[in-house]
Amino acid sequence: MDFSSLLILLLIFLTTCFVLMYWKMLKEKSHLPPGPVPLPLIGNLMQLNTKDPVKSLMKLHEKYGPVYTIFWGPQPSLVLCGYKAVKEALIDQGEEFGARGDYPVFLSYTKGHGIAFRNGEKWKELRRFTLLTLRNFGMGKRSIEERIQEEAQFLVKEFAKTKQSPIDPTVFLGRTVSNVICSIIFGRRFDYEDERLLTIVTSINNNFQIMSNPWGTLYNIYPDIMDYLPGQHQKIFSNFDKITEIVQKEMKSHKETLDPKEPRDYIDCFLIKMQQETRVEDPSFYEKSLLMSVQNLLFGGTETVSTTLRYGFLILMKYPEIAEKIQKEIDNVVGRDRCPCLDDKSRMPFTEAVIHEIMRFADVIPLSLPHAVSHDTVFRGYKIPKGTYVIPLLTSVHYDPSQFKSINTFNPQNFLDENGRFKRNDALMPFSAGKRICLGESLARMELFLYFTTLLQNFTFQPTINREELDLTPVGSGLGNVPSHYNCCLVPR
Ligand code: HEM
Repeated sequence: MDFSSLLILLLIFLTTCFVLMYWKMLKEKSHLPPGPVPLPLIGNLMQLNTKDPVKSLMKLHEKYGPVYTIFWGPQPSLVLCGYKAVKEALIDQGEEFGARGDYPVFLSYTKGHGIAFRNGEKWKELRRFTLLTLRNFGMGKRSIEERIQEEAQFLVKEFAKTKQSPIDPTVFLGRTVSNVICSIIFGRRFDYEDERLLTIVTSINNNFQIMSNPWGTLYNIYPDIMDYLPGQHQKIFSNFDKITEIVQKEMKSHKETLDPKEPRDYIDCFLIKMQQETRVEDPSFYEKSLLMSVQNLLFGGTETVSTTLRYGFLILMKYPEIAEKIQKEIDNVVGRDRCPCLDDKSRMPFTEAVIHEIMRFADVIPLSLPHAVSHDTVFRGYKIPKGTYVIPLLTSVHYDPSQFKSINTFNPQNFLDENGRFKRNDALMPFSAGKRICLGESLARMELFLYFTTLLQNFTFQPTINREELDLTPVGSGLGNVPSHYNCCLVPR
C-alpha cells in the first residue's frame, strides 16, 4: 500500500471516530435535560467564558431554567440552579446525588486518596472518623473555641504592630486561620514567621487563585492535554508537593513519638487507626490516605475561611455604618475587657445577620465541588444515568430572588425578622447541602464569628482609597470567588 492510500485510510478512520464520538454525545444529550448544543470535542466551551464560568452558567440558567445539561469538553454535566432544584437533588434525593464527581485540579494530585475526592464505603469511613476526631478534640482539654480565641488574640497583636500603616490582610488572615486547623492536625500552632506555615499558606492561596482562573478551568476540562502544556496550572502540583513535604516530616516525627494511649492530634488518631487496620486488601487507613486527608483539611480549612473574612472586611469598609452597628453590639454584649466567645452569639443578632449575609453575598465556593449520580435515577422526569456529573450552582441559590430580597445589594435584613431577631434561611448554602456538605462547617462557623467579633472589638478597618471606589465584584471565579486585592489600615479602638 502506498503512502497516499495509507493517509486516506487514516483520514477515513479518524473521521469515523469523530462522527461516532459526536453521535454518542448527541445520544447522551437526548436523554438529559435541555441545554446548549455541544460541538464535537469542545462541547459547550464556546458558551463558557473560562475567565468567569459562574457568570456563563448563570446566563444559561436564565435561558434553560433550573436544570440543564452542559458539556465540559466531551463530558456532560447536569447543572442544578436555584434553591428548589438544589434542595430537591442534594437533600431530598441525597443518596443518589451524594457521590463526588471528578475534579482534575485536585484528583490528578490526590489520585482518589483522602476524604474529599473519593466515594463509597471508604469515603464514609474516613468522613465519619474525621468528623468524630474533630468533635473529640473540641471536647478535649483545650476546646476548639479556646484554640480559635487564642489564635485571634495573636492576630490582634500582629495587627497592632502595623501601627495603622497600610497592609494587605491576605497573608495575615491566611496564617492565623491555617494555624487553627494546624493545631488540630499537628497538635501545635506555628509562629507567624515559621517557614512551614508561610509555605502552607502561600501555596494554598496560590492554588486557590489558579483554580479560580482560566488555567484551572481549562485543566478541569482537558487534564490529559493540559498536563503536557506549559502554564500556571503546572504550579498547582508543585505547590501541593511543597505542602506534602511538610506533612510527611510531621507524620514521621509523630510516628516516632506516638503514644497510642495519649493521642495528641488528628495525625496521632489516624496513626492509631492505621495500627488497628486489619484489611490487607483495600484498607481505609494507610499512609497515602492520611497524607491526602491532611492536605484536604489544610486546603479546606484555610482558604475558604480566610477568603470569607477578607471579603467580609472589604464589604464592611464599603459600608462603615454596618461595621459601626456591629461594634456597638460588641460593646453592649462583650465589652472591651474580655474576648468574645460563642455564648455571646445568641445575644448578637445583628452581627450574626451580617456574617450570614457576608456568606451569601461573597458566595465563596460558587460551584460547590462537583457531584456525581451514584446510581441510575429519575430527576424531574429525566432519567439520569449513574456517573453523570452534577454541578450544584450555589451562586444561583444565594442569588435566588424567590429566597432573598434585593439580591445584588448587601442586605443584612435578609437574616433579620421585623423585631430585629436573627432569622435563619435554608437557602443559604455556603457549605453546600446533603451527604457531602462541608465537613468543616461547624469549625468554620465558630471561626467566622470569633474572628469577626474579636477583630472588630479591637480595630476599625479603614480603606486606603475612597469607599466609593471599593469594588465588591470578585476578580477570580472558578473554584472560588476571589475578592479584589485591597489594602487597609487597622485603627485601634
Ligand atoms: C467558610 C468556610 C468554608 C466554606 C464556604 C466551605 C465550603 C465547602 C463546600 C461548598 C464543599 C463542597 C460540598 C459538596 O461537595 O457538596 C466543602 C467540602 C469540604 N470542606 Fe469545606 N468549607 C469551609 C470550611 C472548611 C473547613 C474549616 C474545613 C476543614 C476542617 C473544610 C473541609 C472540607 C472537606 C474535607 C470537604 C470535603 C467533604 C467531603 O467530600 O465529604 N471546609 N466545603
